Amino acid sequence: MLFSNLKLNDEDPIYIQIKNHIEIMISKGLIPNNSKLPSTRELSQFLNVSRNSIIAAYDELKAEDIIYSVSGKGTFVNYKNITSNKSWYIDYAKLENENTKTANNMDIVKNEIPWRSDLISFKSIAPNGELFDIDEFKKAFLNRISLESHKILNYGYAKGYKPLIDYLLKYMNNKGVDTTNKDILITNGFTEGLELILSSFTEKGDYIICENPTHNTAKKIFKFLGLNIIGIDINEDGLDFNMLEKQLDFLNKKDIKVKFSYITPSYHNPTGMVMNPEDRYRFYKLMKKYNIPMIEDGFNEELLYSSSHIFPVASLDNLNNGVIYIGSFSKILFPGLRIGWILCDKSAISRLESVKRCRSIHVSFLDQAILYDYLSNGAFEKYVKKIKKFYGEKFNFAYDCVNKYIPNEYILGEGGLHIFIKLKNINSRDLLKKCHEQGVIFMPGDVFYINEKGEDTLRLGFSRLSFEEIEKGIKIIGRLINSFHN
Ligand SMILES: Cc1ncc(COP(=O)(O)O)c(C=O)c1O
Repeated sequence: MLFSNLKLNDEDPIYIQIKNHIEIMISKGLIPNNSKLPSTRELSQFLNVSRNSIIAAYDELKAEDIIYSVSGKGTFVNYKNITSNKSWYIDYAKLENENTKTANNMDIVKNEIPWRSDLISFKSIAPNGELFDIDEFKKAFLNRISLESHKILNYGYAKGYKPLIDYLLKYMNNKGVDTTNKDILITNGFTEGLELILSSFTEKGDYIICENPTHNTAKKIFKFLGLNIIGIDINEDGLDFNMLEKQLDFLNKKDIKVKFSYITPSYHNPTGMVMNPEDRYRFYKLMKKYNIPMIEDGFNEELLYSSSHIFPVASLDNLNNGVIYIGSFSKILFPGLRIGWILCDKSAISRLESVKRCRSIHVSFLDQAILYDYLSNGAFEKYVKKIKKFYGEKFNFAYDCVNKYIPNEYILGEGGLHIFIKLKNINSRDLLKKCHEQGVIFMPGDVFYINEKGEDTLRLGFSRLSFEEIEKGIKIIGRLINSFHN
């Protein structure tokens, strides 16, 4: 209590002693600015002094502007010159380590042009929230909380919620993956999965092979962990296997061990390309030959609009353990739930499970349980059908508009929520500047490239735009590209 150490003496006037005590407490910061003081009645009773003494002390403090009264509400502190708040300043910029610097420098949310409601923004590839099946989600929530009540609000297991793990094992089985000697760890989306694997199994300075361009977040994690990145070009025909084979041979001769490879074979971000089954097999064989465990990113697999299902590379692995598959529902369901999974060899999962427990104990069991209910009650299939139609139409429309209005070297994209464009000798950041002035923004391609490439590329995400906005925005981009040539 703020007044329990106030010992009143017999010499000084009581109201002065009380006033001084309050003033000292405030100046030390022990009574924060704008906080409420006890009423004169409460304080007089507590200190066992007359109420008039308290009123007089408060009047003195008010006269010096240290406190103020609000009619009907009470008396509050109004003292801004609290010296203790001023004299302690930590310069966090100086505490920053190399990882923090990397994360800050590569933070495209902070560093790129932000979204504004008056802009036509092709920047994002987040799903369109208007499609979310909120009623089904509410049902799933109510069902799970009634069935399992306190269990899903208490501590759970690092590996994840068992019914969801079992569901996903079957789900992966249906995609053609042999799960006999495999297990699943539930993660905070793909992003945590990738970081968990690499931080558990690599050291600073290790080598990783990936597609170039690649997912910006993956690139950021590689750099964050101090990995050496070997980017293998993707061009109009897909992954450049000549370059890959040359690199592997070169590294092998130099006795450089590559720790992992990372690829997104379906609806790759940013190119939207789908690796054909022969190339998947070729890639897998090469990784096996050079003994490089591969991380397969399956984030967008469900969003195929025309071709038939292509089996993930993990399905080629059968009873081997060289492929680590990371799945995520961020593009097909609710990214805000942040639920993804790692499927791989049991002995690897056991290690990752301990790292997960050490870091953050587990992903929210409530969220996992709701997602499980939603997935298993049939709502998921219905929803996937709906969004495939919705995004498929938008994809075809956006693709046609790009073809019609945007002069380009080539356009890539076979599905997913985005289209990738290589321009003819135009710097996409210069273009972005002009477009921004005209109310249109997009993602400049360089953020996806290793080694400062891709300055003449851009990615258009269309999931949250109307047909009218897509056409209007693409026309503006096309018109401004033409203005470079004039
Ligand atoms: C290539 C790729 N993988 C995975 C994800 C999903 O990541 P998360 O599950 O962490 O949201 C994305 C999202 O944009 C992506 O582009």
